[in-house]
Amino acid sequence: MSKQPAPHDTILILDFGSQYTQLIARRVRESNVYCEILPFDTPKEVILAREPKGIILSGGPASVYDADAPKLSYDLHDLLRCPVLGICYGLQVIASELGGEVRPSANREYGYARLLVADQNSPLFKGLPAEMDVWMSHGDHIISVPEGIHVTARTADALNAFEGLSGRIYGVQFHPEVAHTPFGKEILQNFIYRVCEAQADWSPQSIIGEQVAKIRSQVGAEKVICGLSGGVDSTVAAALVHEAIGEQQTCIFVDTGLLKEGEFETTRALFRQKMSLNVVGVKAADEFLGALKGVADPEEKRRIIGRVFIEIFEREAKRLGGVKYLVQGTLYPDVIESVSVRGPSAVIKSHHNVGGLPERMNLTLIEPLRELFKDEVRTIGRDLGIPEDFLRRHPFPGPGFAVRILGEVTEEHLRLLRAADLIIEEELKLAQLYDSVWQAFPVLLPVSTVGVMGDFRTYERVLAIRAVTSVDGMTADWARLPHDVLGRISTRLISEVRGINRVVFDVSSKPPSTIEWE
Ligand code: XMP
Repeated sequence: MSKQPAPHDTILILDFGSQYTQLIARRVRESNVYCEILPFDTPKEVILAREPKGIILSGGPASVYDADAPKLSYDLHDLLRCPVLGICYGLQVIASELGGEVRPSANREYGYARLLVADQNSPLFKGLPAEMDVWMSHGDHIISVPEGIHVTARTADALNAFEGLSGRIYGVQFHPEVAHTPFGKEILQNFIYRVCEAQADWSPQSIIGEQVAKIRSQVGAEKVICGLSGGVDSTVAAALVHEAIGEQQTCIFVDTGLLKEGEFETTRALFRQKMSLNVVGVKAADEFLGALKGVADPEEKRRIIGRVFIEIFEREAKRLGGVKYLVQGTLYPDVIESVSVRGPSAVIKSHHNVGGLPERMNLTLIEPLRELFKDEVRTIGRDLGIPEDFLRRHPFPGPGFAVRILGEVTEEHLRLLRAADLIIEEELKLAQLYDSVWQAFPVLLPVSTVGVMGDFRTYERVLAIRAVTSVDGMTADWARLPHDVLGRISTRLISEVRGINRVVFDVSSKPPSTIEWE
């Protein structure tokens, strides 16, 4: 029988725009305490209504003395029904709110610094050494400490941590959330457990039971559809909804013709046989290729693919009749991206999804993974019985090979790319590098170069290899693949894939480049 989800002790993070804000949330969740990120300007009524056990003010790129610096729009004391911890910029917000003074530092502290704990009784530093390495990243420091606050740690150059107001206020100038601060996790846990007394009662797995109950009571006996992309997120979302309502959910898996070799068949078999999902497979390669004919512009390609997807979905949903809900594998980073301090992020690439569909068809969204990070999704995927090798697959974009073929997408280009993709995946797996790389794939360039094979001149295409390491796809570095592995891949690509006579390796990071070329 359905019951309401159990409430969890919650830590709220107010985001002042730091690149590390999500990391703070992850550290708190790794400590099994539920945590959410809200924009810094969230009204205090909304914050207090959540009854948080503690609040963390994140770092941020601004300086508190700047005219347009992000600040609280109410008195900090209003938040103090629970303890508040400021990190970096957050500490400076606290200092300036309470009447202290913040100035640019003469000696800016970036990178490692040696922290000297001045108050061994501070709960934040309980059980930790009197000296430790910490990671700093800010050019301002506090030159006068507000009343009611005392300094608990310093570096050679400046005040580095403080607390006060009867144990309600804490602040650190360094970043406890980054791996470069070796005792950072312990410091955050001291705040969460000792200061806030939060219960460690949350885990990604607890989402399963809560969502199953929620979906059952929300959906009742209505029909639900889910678009499967063949990727991890939509698959885990579908598995979770299946757990809740079984056959009431129909999954639609579209063969766009833009997928990897054999992917449609093997993935459909997995959905049906191993996961018992109710799957409708739609073979629509001709429809997609027809619509893409003669189109070379990347955004135009993405728009066309999105439109064709929606048309297919509409058709299938109509065929089923009476569908009320649509399942989407939206993750937590997608949610906070659009509410963060930076405002809705600029459209860099129109991602294919079934975006316009819910309004057009009057469908209500079910997004059971909205609160999870990617690795947490993998964890619950395992618990839901999804095979490990599927969960470890590299992400594959919805528009598939269309955004890896620069210029027009044709059958011939797809044949080339599919063959090249298989070789790259095979060689990385042989070299046991597949799991340490976030994504690795070929990109077909609209450029031909001269080569020589045997005694003959060739004039064929150039293929680029893109391989990146990343934690969430939002930033990425090019993977330092060993030269001999690159050499083997290149030799095989040129000798086995007809139409390729040159291979290059992409050595750009994101930003400023993106992972996909289009
Ligand atoms: P970019 O190219 O923006 O990609 O650096 C970041 C991550 O997102 C994937 N990606 C997509 N995934 N639909 C998707 O489902 C899309 O339209 C799409 N475009 C990019 C990309 O493969 C990388 O993992």
